[in-house]
Amino acid sequence: MIPQSFINDLLDRADIVSVIDGRVALKKTGKNYVGLCPFHEEKSPSFSVSPDKQFFHCFGCQESGSALTFLMKFERLEFVEAVEMLAKDLGLEVPRERQSRARESVDQGLYQALEQAEGYYRRQLRSAPVAIEYLKGRGVTGPVARDFGIGYAPDGWHNLRDALGADENKLLLAGLTTKNDKGNVYDRFRDRVVFPIRDTRGRVIGFGGRTLKDGDGPKYLNSPETPLFQKGRELYGLYEARKALRSIDRLIVVEGYMDVVALAQNGIPNAVATLGTATGTAHYEKLYRYSDEVICCFDGDKAGRAAAWRALESALPVLNERRSLKFVFLPNGEDPDSMIRTHGQTVFQEHVNQATPGLEFLLGRLKENLDLHSLDGRAKFMGLAAPYIEKLPQGLLRDMVQARVRELGGLEPVQPSAVSASTREARVSPASQPSATTNRRGIERLQRRMLIILLKETQLWSLLEDGLRAKLAEHATHLGLLGTLVDFLEQNPNAEIDKILVGWPDEATQGELVNLVNQPLEPGLPRERELVDGLGNLCRLMDDELRRQRQLQAREIGAEAELLSHLRSAEGGGHRERTAGD
Ligand code: UTP
Ligand code: MN
Repeated sequence: MIPQSFINDLLDRADIVSVIDGRVALKKTGKNYVGLCPFHEEKSPSFSVSPDKQFFHCFGCQESGSALTFLMKFERLEFVEAVEMLAKDLGLEVPRERQSRARESVDQGLYQALEQAEGYYRRQLRSAPVAIEYLKGRGVTGPVARDFGIGYAPDGWHNLRDALGADENKLLLAGLTTKNDKGNVYDRFRDRVVFPIRDTRGRVIGFGGRTLKDGDGPKYLNSPETPLFQKGRELYGLYEARKALRSIDRLIVVEGYMDVVALAQNGIPNAVATLGTATGTAHYEKLYRYSDEVICCFDGDKAGRAAAWRALESALPVLNERRSLKFVFLPNGEDPDSMIRTHGQTVFQEHVNQATPGLEFLLGRLKENLDLHSLDGRAKFMGLAAPYIEKLPQGLLRDMVQARVRELGGLEPVQPSAVSASTREARVSPASQPSATTNRRGIERLQRRMLIILLKETQLWSLLEDGLRAKLAEHATHLGLLGTLVDFLEQNPNAEIDKILVGWPDEATQGELVNLVNQPLEPGLPRERELVDGLGNLCRLMDDELRRQRQLQAREIGAEAELLSHLRSAEGGGHRERTAGD
């Protein structure tokens, strides 16, 4: 943990103009500076930096924030990393708790060992004609091998120790050597082509090594889990993709090291690979920090479809209406490497362009083997779908999927006109419960209004009654940005707006927050009264809404019998009755 006081101090001392100026060419115009926005493509400058406010804003794409947010966005850093970078520029040391400092010093040694090993392997490749021939045979050219830092670990048991003179304990901890039952320590990678795995800051954290001859032990060996390397979080090629592309509009997820390298070699630099593990939720969290569109490539065979299904399950908790997940199923027996090398970039790109949307895949799979014309089939379908809907975060996407599922399950009134089944299926039905919708809209409007007031007058938070604050905190997870702000203010009751913007836990909504702060409020009204009444009302509406949702869920998930009888009566008397309910 970095103390908040240090962050405030840092922002006081940092000058946003000099932070940005080294990265974006700025020109002074009056009080402010302008330049070409680094966050979107533009020909005339709409990116403005205010030294007075220590704030940047782009009038084109609406990105804005402090020096720290700039670094986070521009350098794609995590908050702590941005703090470190800014502190370093100012010659300050980031204060930390003792424990993490101790860890830090161990880590540095491991990073060093890995970096040395990477250099060593790269040098070895130059004098290893067999390995060079192997790579050439797989279509890898010098520049791409260099970009990925591909190297060669020569045969032998103690090359690293002898060549690097590194601390042997560090080599072991870094996973570069391994120890057998007899206690002998020796090089992990021997006579293999090695692929350095980097974190998003470009530091080597592990390796993958491939045999030159198939059938000679395991095809790939990977670094074990170490303090620096956790397979479940890292993606091979992400650093390289970011380096090749300023902004990544989509990320393609493949299975192997060679797939990433071959795609880069053939003009597709935006591919990453999981490291011999399935893509998990942590992977998706990371992927969506860099791109809103993620496309996973799988084999078209049964195993590939099963893998896609698992991938989808892991992705559900982080999907929303902005973030899309798609699947490409390659022809049997092909992987991206073989595909792009035999058929070329255009054919591969076509496959990617025609990727199946994840939610379509989901509903398609759930419907498989079910007859949605029968009551039984519909009930089964709804029962199957419910746990997946549950996994999606609350929000628009979830509402849409839910509406779609309800429609497929026959719970929503469908358009009476004679639309064909397929057009009907392609349409997402709007929510058709007047009271629920009105309620939801009321909540949204109120939520936004309260958010703006609270952002502008954060000091009012500590004036609210304890009971009201507690109630809001209880509902926080369902209150979107307002909920995040409530959580934040609960923990930092006297935070001012700068601190909120900087400390905002969710990078994705930071820009939206800044826009809200800039929304005008009519001057002169007593905000405190409006806030107290509004927040009270909001809590009441939320209580109603939660009750309604619980009832809906009880119907949809648990009460299959009730559902069936409901469907029967709906069959008889049209679908309309009871859906508006309560
Ligand atoms: P594949 O077996 O699909 O190999 O493994 P590939 O990527 O097509 O390899 P090439 O083209 O023959 O070189 C996919 C990924 O699974 C992991 C590696 O990360 C590999 O890139 N893997 C595979 C292992 O960790 N160990 C193995 O023995 C095999
Ligand atoms: Mn392959």
